[in-house]
Amino acid sequence: MEKSSGKRNTAILISGRGSNLKSLIKYSKKKKSLIKIVLVVSNNFNAKGLNYANKYKINNIFIKYSNRKIFENRLLKLLKKNNVDLICLAGFMKILSGSFIKKFYRPILNIHPSLLPKYKGLNTHNRAIQNKDKYSGATVHIVNEKLDSGKIILQEKVKILKSDSVRNLEKKVLKIEHKIYPKAIIRFLTSY
Ligand code: GRF
Repeated sequence: MEKSSGKRNTAILISGRGSNLKSLIKYSKKKKSLIKIVLVVSNNFNAKGLNYANKYKINNIFIKYSNRKIFENRLLKLLKKNNVDLICLAGFMKILSGSFIKKFYRPILNIHPSLLPKYKGLNTHNRAIQNKDKYSGATVHIVNEKLDSGKIILQEKVKILKSDSVRNLEKKVLKIEHKIYPKAIIRFLTSY
């Protein structure tokens, strides 16, 4: 815990576009926000999200993912150096090992574009449309060693219209993601 402001020192892990990172930065800038983003890490050198980190002068780094062990060891060192006490995965496309989760020993949250436990993994929108689901949505959950399976913190749904394409649905769900990730962080930090 950062002592002066009482905000949690938070690291955001990304792999690409970074729209959730952007929404979390926006939240973190609020006076009453419960987090301070002290570090942004990407496993992808070209991740667009890194531009947001630069724009807002947030310490950011690309860590090459040559293999999981090397990546996670470098990451752990950085987290320690920056006194990170919360990790938020935001479009981070690698799976963290059980050993990393144990060693970090602090909460890790993730946002997933489906109504978990439905559609773990990739291509969630396509799968929801193919199955003719009436609703899709987004979920924020605690990360454990199993993919997209940890305790759910917050979930919000959106109606799938017959006319919805995968792209359309992605846009609608993304809007929800940007809304619920900050809300879920607040819920998590105030009630767990
Ligand atoms: C989001 O849909 C997130 O739920 C998923 O990957 C996507 C990342 O988007 N895990 P962005 O990089 O935050 O724009």
